[in-house]
Amino acid sequence: VSRLSVFVLDDYEAMSRAAADLVCDLVREVPSASMVLATGETPMGLYRELVHRRAAGAFDASSLRTYQLDEYAGVAPSDPRSLFGWMTRSVLEPLGIPPEHVVRLPGGGAPDGALFAYDRELEERGGFDLAVLGIGENGHLGFNEPPSDAGSATSEVELSPETLRANKRYWGDGAPVPNRAITTGMKSLLASRRILLLASGSRKREIVAARCTAP
Ligand code: F6R
Repeated sequence: VSRLSVFVLDDYEAMSRAAADLVCDLVREVPSASMVLATGETPMGLYRELVHRRAAGAFDASSLRTYQLDEYAGVAPSDPRSLFGWMTRSVLEPLGIPPEHVVRLPGGGAPDGALFAYDRELEERGGFDLAVLGIGENGHLGFNEPPSDAGSATSEVELSPETLRANKRYWGDGAPVPNRAITTGMKSLLASRRILLLASGSRKREIVAARCTAP
């Protein structure tokens, strides 16, 4: 049975605290939960809140298993603009998640077999307990650009002009945003036992309204 709950909170900090409450409750229940964690600006307040709670001894992430949600194709993990680099700085290191509990996506140009292996490993472990997602202004989840097939596998995709435009701010110096990416597929995301979809700011108003009222 699936259930959708929509919470409208006063501001970004309140959203981040409410999201942290949900994550902490889940991890108390299932300390070794499998989570796929978005980057982007939106969940950063949640991650900061979890880091504070960990410092206060109220949150323990040492048994969690985390999965990389998406990555630009052809960008080295050592590039600070890579999503994995961002993930490492904002979540994995500050939360003390052991490297052996981190499942990376294969890089750009990886053979289909490597992408298939990511989905198979996830399936064998029982799928995600939680997907922490943001949403693009055009509705993308991870880098699954709409309209995405609900049964799509983890794959290499082409980014839309809207996504390239929206992500320009992260690249700087007029550097072109890579136009291909690897993304966890919709099938695994939708099969997650819980999905925490975070959205904040007026730029997201239209897409959130559209998604919450869609049949
Ligand atoms: C990032 C990701 C993207 C972002 C989306 C919103 O890992 O998966 O789908 O969640 O582009 O980005 P922000 O939060 O920066 O508005």
